[in-house]
Order: sequence, then structure tokens, then C-alpha cells
Amino acid sequence: MPIREVIRMGDPRLLARAREVEAFDTPELHALVMDLEDTMRAMQGAGIAAPQIAVGLRVVIFGGFRSARYPDAEEIPYTVLVNPVLEPLSDETEDGWEGCLSVPGMRGLVPRFRQLRYTGFDAFGRRVDRTVADFHARVVQHECDHLDGILYPMRIRDLRQFGFQDVLFPGDTAADD
Ligand code: NI
Repeated sequence: MPIREVIRMGDPRLLARAREVEAFDTPELHALVMDLEDTMRAMQGAGIAAPQIAVGLRVVIFGGFRSARYPDAEEIPYTVLVNPVLEPLSDETEDGWEGCLSVPGMRGLVPRFRQLRYTGFDAFGRRVDRTVADFHARVVQHECDHLDGILYPMRIRDLRQFGFQDVLFPGDTAADD
């Protein structure tokens, strides 16, 4: 269960569309999820997607943390999500600051749908079906974007709202996303 190297923006593997997982409850899929979890925890991320460790499969994990950066945010349960499908429940969007383990040291203001339903499977092939809002919805959208080769800077509307974390938020020592 090693901690894996997180590849960074500029690597073309972060821009590719990841492939659907076809077999569940396999040793390979469980090992991938464990590597993702170990890597996310080691880097104190809010979530991580398989392409970030150079595995081009539609697997993300997130949650199960208390975020120093979002102390007032709801606690998101630890979630493994394979072959996710996202369905916004309205056109309403909300701006929020994001970071990414693949874009270390940076923060940007990103619009996301405020409410959505997400479906998919866990590593055992059990169905996941949740309706969420706000920070939980933001994290899911950020992680699932990685599966389609989209990094959050590509969604920033006003690039003046993009910069180095320690300059934007002096004294904020929280980890990268
Ligand atoms: Ni990210």
C-alpha cells in the first residue's frame, strides 16, 4: 500500500479521458483504492483521482477528513466512487476557492453547481447514489473533472482570482487539495 507519486499540471496524462472500470471486487481495484487512500492521507488532500497517480481509470476517492482549510464545512464521509455519473439538480452555481494536489501551492476561485446527484459504484461494485450540496458537491465535481482531463484552473472565470496560496491567504497553512 505505497504512497504514490502525484503527477502535476503539465503532464499530459492529467489531460486524458480516463477509462471505465469493467471488473469490480478485484485485487487490482482494491490495491488501487488503497494506494489512493494512502496517498490522499499522506498529502492531506480532500480527495484524489486515479489519473493523479498516473492510472487512467474512472476511480476517485474523497472525504473522511476534517479539513483545517474548511473548518466550518460539513464532514464528508469517506467515499470510493467508480465510474461516476454527475447530475446537477439546478443551474445554480457557487464560487469557491479550490486547490489541487496536482497544482501544488496554488488556489483559484471556481464556479461549481451547488446541488447535484451522483451515482456510481464502490470498489465492490455496490451502487452509490447520493444527493449533495455545497462543499460536498464541490469536492465531487473537482475530483470527477480529473476523469475527463479537466483541472480546476481550466474552470476559473477570472484569472485574477488565481494565485499562490501563501500570497492569497497569508498565514493559512492548510494542505493542498
Ligand atoms: Ni485535484
